[in-house]
Amino acid sequence: MSPDPDDANAPRTATAPDGADMAARAAAEPEMITQEERRQRRRDGERRIDRRSLLRPGDGPMVIFEKVTKKYGTDTYALRDVSVSIDAGEFVFLVGPSGSGKSTFIRMLTREVAATSGRVTVGGRDLSKLRRSKIPQLRRGIGCVFQDYKLLPGRTVYENVAYALMVTGDDQRSIRRKVPEILSLVGLADKGDRHPNELSGGEQQRVSIARAFVNHPRLLIADEPTGNLDPETSIDIMQLLYRIHRTGTTVVMATHDRELVDKMQMRVIALEDGRIVRDQRQARYARVETPIGGVQ
Ligand SMILES: Nc1ncnc2c1ncn2[C@@H]1O[C@H](COP(=O)(O)OP(=O)(O)OP(=O)(O)O)[C@@H](O)[C@H]1O
Ligand SMILES: [Mg+2]
Repeated sequence: MSPDPDDANAPRTATAPDGADMAARAAAEPEMITQEERRQRRRDGERRIDRRSLLRPGDGPMVIFEKVTKKYGTDTYALRDVSVSIDAGEFVFLVGPSGSGKSTFIRMLTREVAATSGRVTVGGRDLSKLRRSKIPQLRRGIGCVFQDYKLLPGRTVYENVAYALMVTGDDQRSIRRKVPEILSLVGLADKGDRHPNELSGGEQQRVSIARAFVNHPRLLIADEPTGNLDPETSIDIMQLLYRIHRTGTTVVMATHDRELVDKMQMRVIALEDGRIVRDQRQARYARVETPIGGVQ
């Protein structure tokens, strides 16, 4: 199956055979939302999920940064006057050298880091006006994936995922239904009893993606999710994130992985020294330079 031609973010077949292959492989996999899950979501009412998570993008963008500056201490500028908008359902790579502000950008979306000046709006919520007591509710609506997985080491795979459902108030019956389903979707149906230290890095990252996605968040953020993985495993993880994006989830992913970004040809926002130096759709990791005096 080829990528949806209406999807502006879909990898382009002509220029990105590997990305297109990844899309085709993703399409051949079972849907991240099963029929039963879809029916259950309808029964639960999507509104209930929204109320729990605070995110209400409506028709507007999922993320808006307006002249956002973040200063750590007196003289470290992590972000300088950043303005950008990310629509609901987009997939965005954040790239840039070490220290350019990628993690700061991502951590602002969950209000782990607050702007020094300017405004960050997520899912229609102005985060500068969000009461501290509402922050956990905001975070419940955002799935987070990190380079170091951040799994609970003393808990099994099953328990790690179940925990995410417990904190959002699911009952045991719903947990018993949803956990095996999501573990099967990430290819870990037979590893629910293992502890994180009994899994490979790629498997641990799959658990963390299962945990991030089990509540079907509108927004998923990933800070260098393939940073500790070999190229082959990175592609598997990228494929999972791509499938999540295809369910309509907005995905913002910070990465140094040049090869993956080049394969996927999604929107790329490049940061340098805290400023956005490039924001391009269907882009590569680096700007494609036109040869001097030549036509590309
Ligand atoms: N908690 C902090 N306290 C002080 N300075 C910080 C803090 N976090 C980040 N910085 C500084 O802010 C700048 C941006 O850091 P950030 O972690 O956002 O960069 P990054 O693009 O994610 O880098 P990397 O690719 O290495 O992960 C850097 O100069 C960094 O040293
Ligand atoms: Mg970082």
